[in-house]
Amino acid sequence: MADKNFAAGEKNSKGADVLVTGAAGFIGSHVCEELVKRGLRVVGLDDLSSGRLDNLAPLADHPCFRLVEGDICDATAVDQLFQDEHPAAVAHLAALVSVPRSIDDPDENFRLNLAGSQIVLEAARIAGTQRFVFASSAAVYGDTRAPTHTEEESSKHPLSPYGAAKLAVEHLLCAHAHCFGMSATALRFFNVYGPRQDPSSPYSGVISIFADRLASGAPITVFGDGEQTRDFVFVQDVARGVADAAQFQETGFRVVNCCTGRASSVLDLVQGLAQSYHDEVEPQVFHQAPRAGEIRHSLGDPSGFARVFGWTPATSLADGLRELLASGGRGGMLKQG
Ligand code: NAD
Ligand code: UD1
Repeated sequence: MADKNFAAGEKNSKGADVLVTGAAGFIGSHVCEELVKRGLRVVGLDDLSSGRLDNLAPLADHPCFRLVEGDICDATAVDQLFQDEHPAAVAHLAALVSVPRSIDDPDENFRLNLAGSQIVLEAARIAGTQRFVFASSAAVYGDTRAPTHTEEESSKHPLSPYGAAKLAVEHLLCAHAHCFGMSATALRFFNVYGPRQDPSSPYSGVISIFADRLASGAPITVFGDGEQTRDFVFVQDVARGVADAAQFQETGFRVVNCCTGRASSVLDLVQGLAQSYHDEVEPQVFHQAPRAGEIRHSLGDPSGFARVFGWTPATSLADGLRELLASGGRGGMLKQG
């Protein structure tokens, strides 16, 4: 299949090179920055429901970036944007991102994460967009007996509507690649953390919540015994991976884990964050019942991503936590500069 663009210097003369949904979000804003840094023209689509314009401040007035405020579920508007821009690639990140929220509101999960993704996919197909990169999730695996999740071998039994929708979209992507000759990549993000992650909701990512609580001297809530583990991957490494996938030349479908291959428990995080402060911080920790739909252990094997794209995570958890704290985060979460 002919490649529409993306080798350096081969830009789409009509509009953007890459359309990023969820551009004003935590991960999406880093993705936009990475793509622009690579010399690509980017149009972002975001309804600002959980994203913020502040996140895009580094790109304000940049000639290679613009943001369109809109809803991925508005099929007419999404179609129009694709027709106007004719992007060669789309990075689809807009979603309801919280596992517990998807359990509280399965209809909204279905509407945004499944039906919304189909709207973006269909607009891309009609516009002749060649590459589709999808922000999937480790949540597709559920709890498996395997100590480490590999893309093919591990069973996929999502424990939440969120994980189920992510897996369903992976299947849609696979079918699109097969039926319509699209190049489609699903990146199964594990637990992403770093600057700009919003700590303000009980549904926010655990590292952003803990960092915020430590900074304000508030107690930390650990769900369950705190021995549950996650594979925490730094957001700038993830953004690099999304950009690599958006520039990938081969057609067909592929799915890869975006992770580090290293597990940390929730209690490890409390300790790691406390140690990253200059001040001696003694966190107050309270335990509550485990969350419903909670995965006990989640650890990925990153070797598939390395094999296909040459991507490897560059940032250790200790360095990433230090960078997060040094960034000042959102909501003034830092004591130190
Ligand atoms: P985020 O909430 O910061 O970003 C999501 C963005 O999508 C927000 O800017 C929000 O305003 C936008 N959005 C939501 N609904 C929309 C709609 N209907 N139309 C247009 N825009 C809409 O979350 P994030 O952590 O940056 O997540 C980005 C993607 O990565 C999501 O698809 C999420 O499921 C996936 N993911 C995240 C993690 C993680 O650890 N953060 C892990 C696995 C997968
Ligand atoms: C996260 C992502 C989800 C992604 C998945 C992939 C967020 C909000 N969710 O889900 O989009 O698909 O990773 O692996 O980024 N915890 C506490 N106390 C708190 C908050 C959380 O103990 O105050 C615990 C939770 O019970 C859980 C762990 O921390 O065991 C991680 O929780 P969370 O950051 O919400 O992430 P996931 O549910 O793993």
